[in-house]
Amino acid sequence: MAVTSLLSKIILFALTTYAENCFNSIIGFGDSLTDTGNGFHFVSAYNPPPYFTLSPYGDTFFDRPTGRLSDGRLIIDFIDYKRYLQTSLVLLGEIGGNDYNHAFLQGKTEAEVQPFVPKIVKTIGETINELINLGAVTLVVPGNFPIGCSATYLTHFASTNEEDYDSTTGCIKWLNRFAQYHNDLLQTELSRIRELHPETTIIYGDYYNAAMNMYRSPEIYGFTGGALKACCGGGGLYNFNFTVQCGHPSSVRCVDPSSYMNWDGMHFTEVAAKWIAKSVLTHVGTICDRPSSHAGVYDH
Ligand SMILES: *[C@@H]1O[C@H](CO)[C@@H](O)[C@H](O)[C@H]1NC(C)=O
Repeated sequence: MAVTSLLSKIILFALTTYAENCFNSIIGFGDSLTDTGNGFHFVSAYNPPPYFTLSPYGDTFFDRPTGRLSDGRLIIDFIDYKRYLQTSLVLLGEIGGNDYNHAFLQGKTEAEVQPFVPKIVKTIGETINELINLGAVTLVVPGNFPIGCSATYLTHFASTNEEDYDSTTGCIKWLNRFAQYHNDLLQTELSRIRELHPETTIIYGDYYNAAMNMYRSPEIYGFTGGALKACCGGGGLYNFNFTVQCGHPSSVRCVDPSSYMNWDGMHFTEVAAKWIAKSVLTHVGTICDRPSSHAGVYDH
């Protein structure tokens, strides 16, 4: 008994000392004792959903199930969570993108999807506030991509009316306008939050313009396969077919993905992702005062 208690004191002491003085981040591997929600995301499509995705899980701290197998936080959550957030660059997901994708690709019209935008932007704002309250000080909040340039959308909304297309890029204009509408509202929301939390740095991740630079001048980036056609897919003008998607036995893959911007119709190739990351990190770099803390993209 005494040994156990001594041991736990030593462990706690060690955690405090090291977590406060040495480490910028925690990388935890483990099972349900460590899982802060991955299981939830990977199994959430199951019907019926697993028991731990249901109330009363999470009731004590999160007020909702988060995939943690507890009423609240886990050991790893307490290992200096706040300091972890304070010394981290917090990158939000491209929240809302899939809400629009699912709606548009299931046949909703622009007029039907437009009212989603203020609600989605509000949710992003609430997420940022929640993260700031938990200790985050530097956040990158990405906007939407120019969805009118994606092979999936170009295929789904193919039009015989030339007016629908941007003559420089070949992208569908109204879809890009929609993405810009989302981005405009998002940037207004970010300005509002910056005023409420002057101690934080909130960077708008301008995925839209980073990608548009590539769509406008694909040759500069080495996209000899074109910027719009997918590298991997089921054929057709944009090498995208809903029935035969990348990974399907009869899908075809380009020889050199680095000469393509679009990987599978909806997502970027690695090289395109790297250019976008570089563009976004230019803004992050300017707020890093110590050279050692400069964020970088790994080259291989
Ligand atoms: C998509 O693939 C299916 C299955 O091979 C084919 O029947 C269909 O014609 C294709 N659609 C287009 C638009 O190419």
